[in-house]
Amino acid sequence: MYSFEGNRVVRDTGAVFPIFNAPIGYFARGRLAGAVSAAGGVGLMETSSQPVEGVAAEFDTARAMSEAPIGLQMFLRVLKQAERLDAVLDWALDGRTRFMASCVGDPGPLMARIHGAGVKLYHQVGSLAQALKAEDAGVDGLIVEGAESGGIRGERDLQTFSLLQQVRARTGLPIVAAGGMADGHSMAGAFALGAEGVMMGTRFISCAESPVHEAWKQAVVGAGATLRLNIGKPGVSMRVVVNDYSEQVARGEVAMNGNPYAGPFMELFRNGRTDLAMVGAGESAVLIDAVKPAAEIVAETVAVFWAEIERLAGLLTPAGAVSR
Ligand SMILES: Cc1cc2nc3c(=O)[nH]c(=O)nc-3n(C[C@H](O)[C@H](O)[C@H](O)COP(=O)(O)O)c2cc1C
Repeated sequence: MYSFEGNRVVRDTGAVFPIFNAPIGYFARGRLAGAVSAAGGVGLMETSSQPVEGVAAEFDTARAMSEAPIGLQMFLRVLKQAERLDAVLDWALDGRTRFMASCVGDPGPLMARIHGAGVKLYHQVGSLAQALKAEDAGVDGLIVEGAESGGIRGERDLQTFSLLQQVRARTGLPIVAAGGMADGHSMAGAFALGAEGVMMGTRFISCAESPVHEAWKQAVVGAGATLRLNIGKPGVSMRVVVNDYSEQVARGEVAMNGNPYAGPFMELFRNGRTDLAMVGAGESAVLIDAVKPAAEIVAETVAVFWAEIERLAGLLTPAGAVSR
């Protein structure tokens, strides 16, 4: 039996295990974040896809599931455009959490307020330049996302294997690895490359407590491959499951026009119409073979992680111990 005592991500978040759900808009609401927290992971609830009253109601849902800490995430650009950033901060910093995360934007102007409330903030980055900028802004940790991830990315972005090592060499901040993390094997790999935690997007959007339609989850479970498609803006792409619809988009029969799902997202999200919009998912979809409860995913990830660490430690063969 091992523990993560001394792990800086566990220290900052208050969780038992340094395993996060990705705070994806619409997906990472109360039930999903609450289930991950209740399992001992870092349940991270998004705050950006609806007004603060709705966010508060989702938080109550998560709170009702356990007393475990729940993290709150801000998609800075979206909140600024919607003029909701101050309202979210006022609400979040009123004793709701000890841990926040942010993405897409500059957390610098917020740090004094966040630290003043005794809260830690990790910022999500996709390149070394973004990581160094976030460190200069005073963040407490980095969520480093490699390009095998689901979601929107630059076409030239590095994948996790190279990016983690590049960032780790230049910063002493705690690193949470995202992109391609789906189980204890990938977690052990990420720790070898300098991470102290992992964030799983594709794995948790296809878990039992995820609010997305069952057809999306089954498309992930059944995925044989993913592909990245330019969304109609130079250098910007979205990773999706290969299916009939995404093949049509890839052949140019359906225009993306800047829409990452190339069709009505809500028809897919709520009604399971994989024939009308593309199923967003990361490369790790090929490793996911069942829809499971979040608690099972967290427990299995931890068990396999420690088994992998033990296996690797078993490679320590003293020189001369094996006779030839
Ligand atoms: C369907 C989908 C939509 C996503 N949308 C966003 C988004 O709007 N903003 C964002 O910062 N990350 C987004 N992500 C990326 C996640 O935050 C996370 O970094 C990523 O899922 C981790 O990689 P993984 O999918 O390999 O686990 C999205 C991911 C998926 C699968």
